[in-house]
Amino acid sequence: MRTLIKHVLASSAPREDVTVKGWVRTRRDAKGFSFVEVNDGSCLANLQVVVDAGVPGAEHLHEFLTGAAVSVTGHLVPSPAAGQKWELRATRVGLVGRTDASYPLQKKGHSLEFLRTIAHLRPRSNLFGAVFRTRSRLAHAVHQFFQERDFVYVHTPIITASDCEGAGEMFRVTTLKGNIDEKPEADFFGRRAYLTVSGQLEAETFACALSNVYTFGPTFRAENSNTARHAAEFWMIEPEMAFCDLAGDMDLAEAFVKAMARHALEHCGEDLALFEKFVDPEVRRRLEFVVERPFQRVPYAEAVEILRRSGQAFEFPVEYGANLQSEHERYLTETHFKSPVTVFNYPRAIKPFYMRLNDDQQTVTAMDVLVPGIGEVIGGSQREERLDQLLENMKFHRLRPEDYWWYVDLRRYGTVPHAGFGLGFERLLMFLTGVGNIRDVIPFARTPGSAEF
Ligand code: 4AD
Ligand code: MG
Repeated sequence: MRTLIKHVLASSAPREDVTVKGWVRTRRDAKGFSFVEVNDGSCLANLQVVVDAGVPGAEHLHEFLTGAAVSVTGHLVPSPAAGQKWELRATRVGLVGRTDASYPLQKKGHSLEFLRTIAHLRPRSNLFGAVFRTRSRLAHAVHQFFQERDFVYVHTPIITASDCEGAGEMFRVTTLKGNIDEKPEADFFGRRAYLTVSGQLEAETFACALSNVYTFGPTFRAENSNTARHAAEFWMIEPEMAFCDLAGDMDLAEAFVKAMARHALEHCGEDLALFEKFVDPEVRRRLEFVVERPFQRVPYAEAVEILRRSGQAFEFPVEYGANLQSEHERYLTETHFKSPVTVFNYPRAIKPFYMRLNDDQQTVTAMDVLVPGIGEVIGGSQREERLDQLLENMKFHRLRPEDYWWYVDLRRYGTVPHAGFGLGFERLLMFLTGVGNIRDVIPFARTPGSAEF
């Protein structure tokens, strides 16, 4: 019976006959015995194993190289060494999988850029072990947050025929050869099909039946932006609530970000300490701040005024009617408000057709949550629930209602005010870990020009 190292290290008393299996981090040979540091990924810490010459299997010790897979049975005893409570006195060791000196993760520190080129091995490094354990715990926390609030989890499709964001940044899905636009009706689905950019439209149909729903799945964007916070494939969480307006939507978004920060503080302590030490010394303080302090809310028009009056030399000009760029978002949250900020009521022309038009006829009920270090982590809105207005919005954005007939139907049959948002899971992880590049919080990054592994 194998025990995970995290459970071994959490022991409250010495134990006989414990078996662990994992990968060798280092080995040091002394006279008559060796120290072997073993890691199995269940936690950040290694288990120190002391192997006396002569224990069964010790004849293979010279093959216990960094990266080798090994099995060790022994007695768990208090460790005389500083910084660790326990060590394992081996009674039997075995080599499970050999390695050789070409193993790329030798002990020295590696750059994140280099580790990206060995994405198949980087989970065995301390940093990436910590990132992906955190990712897993936060994924669980996402479900917990919504399930506790009676939201129903909906699996919206990955292949779709509609462009939710209307930005034309969709990957085409086709089995056609040659000119794929010549006869789209001959294609696999009998029409043009794409990878989804958002599950929102489908989630809305379910919200208008089950009241509160959420999606959590992969989304795809063919935007050619090679930045540290854009990926072509990323995971998005999209709640959608019937009988809800913009204020209710902002309340949920802010509560959600706070809950995720609290979860990281409470359940990812060991890994957080590593991020604090090697990635971002401010990370824990930032999370505590987010948990404790209320978010600021500011209408888009006011945000533009603040930026204009800032006297900052921005690369992109600040203009009413233009999208906020990352540098603007970061100024608002990092410099001006020094806290997360929810910006709402954006000009209709720069937001998608489904957002509800405000009474001013100029702005829509959009809201973006901006956080320090990242900028936009959430985008959402109250949806246009009025049939006539939705059709007018589509005209304004040059969309054909017949392409969205089922979506329009929701406004025909028992329409209700409803609202929702999308949170980019990788952006959230960047915020929670302090890791500065989206490529380093997703197991295998998909970015322009890169789909190795
Ligand atoms: O603001 P976006 O485009 O909103 C939507 O897709 C809505 N349909 C959501 C909804 O209301 N249900 O995207 C939502 C979030 C962004 O705030 C950002 O965190 C993330 O998704 N995101 C990306 N993350 C990584 N790489 C990309 N290329 C991203 N594009 C958006
Ligand atoms: Mg957005």
